Amino acid sequence: MTKTKYRSVFAPASSQQRSENFRDYWLFTQQHGGDLFEAEQDLSKKRATLEGFQSNPVRLNQPLANPQAFYRNYIELVDDPKSLDRMTLLLGALYKFARHEWVGIKAAWDVAPDMANCTTLEDKISRVHLAEEFCHVRLFDEMLKTCGLDHVAWVPLTPFKEKVYEQFPKLPGFVIDTPAFVTELMGVTFYCHLYQLFDEILVDEPAVRDRLKALLDEITIDEIAHVGQRRNFIGPVGIRIAKTLVKPLYTLFFKDIPEIGELMDVNKMIQDGLAFDFNQIPDYMIARSWIPSYCKI
Ligand SMILES: [Fe+2]
Ligand SMILES: [Fe+2]
Repeated sequence: MTKTKYRSVFAPASSQQRSENFRDYWLFTQQHGGDLFEAEQDLSKKRATLEGFQSNPVRLNQPLANPQAFYRNYIELVDDPKSLDRMTLLLGALYKFARHEWVGIKAAWDVAPDMANCTTLEDKISRVHLAEEFCHVRLFDEMLKTCGLDHVAWVPLTPFKEKVYEQFPKLPGFVIDTPAFVTELMGVTFYCHLYQLFDEILVDEPAVRDRLKALLDEITIDEIAHVGQRRNFIGPVGIRIAKTLVKPLYTLFFKDIPEIGELMDVNKMIQDGLAFDFNQIPDYMIARSWIPSYCKI
């Protein structure tokens, strides 16, 4: 735990500060992810990290009591969530959150220029950002495998939701930037709450608990940087709008995943999103992540 070293992520920033921070983020992201493999939507350092986990697998001592409950409900919830055990709810929540992320980034990847055709620094940053998000889906898949779920398919959402995700990245930047920032913030909030659930639910499986935490840390470290980076796209009006969007966007998104409502306190997540200022993030994560200069005291 750190002392107060950082300001709110909603703290003001001048346009000059934001240009400087884009340049700084670009230097950070290149050393953080390594080389971009455009065709594979992958990054060299992230690939090596995942391979490190895969070549040293950890599995449950006691296999899942009822994997069929997961497979029956993971694409569409068919059972009453109150009838499901906490482990099944946890894995369902994890998959469904990651699935939304996967659908969103697939749509954005197809619309965004590839690296060879990027004309601005912001375009290049966004391309690498999307590649990192694909790496997250692979890390989530590894979490599910760690729990013995080897037959998980990554399937599209309903046609209507797929359409919404397809249209979103085609909108102009001034419309997208604010909700895109709030979405990243929601990711960090969700992952911090998920981390605590690993401790609660996996008390009897310490090796798997620690592996899931290590896999999640890789994602959260990126997402903390994404929060700062997406905040950096937003001017003084947008940042005020962003604050008003936290509650409705979190509420709408989490309502779509009933498992999250069963396991987590959505109101607390909203409060955490509004209060987010990097001070609660442990030092070992901060050391590998990125924070805008105007959020540092
Ligand atoms: Fe992500
Ligand atoms: Fe992200």
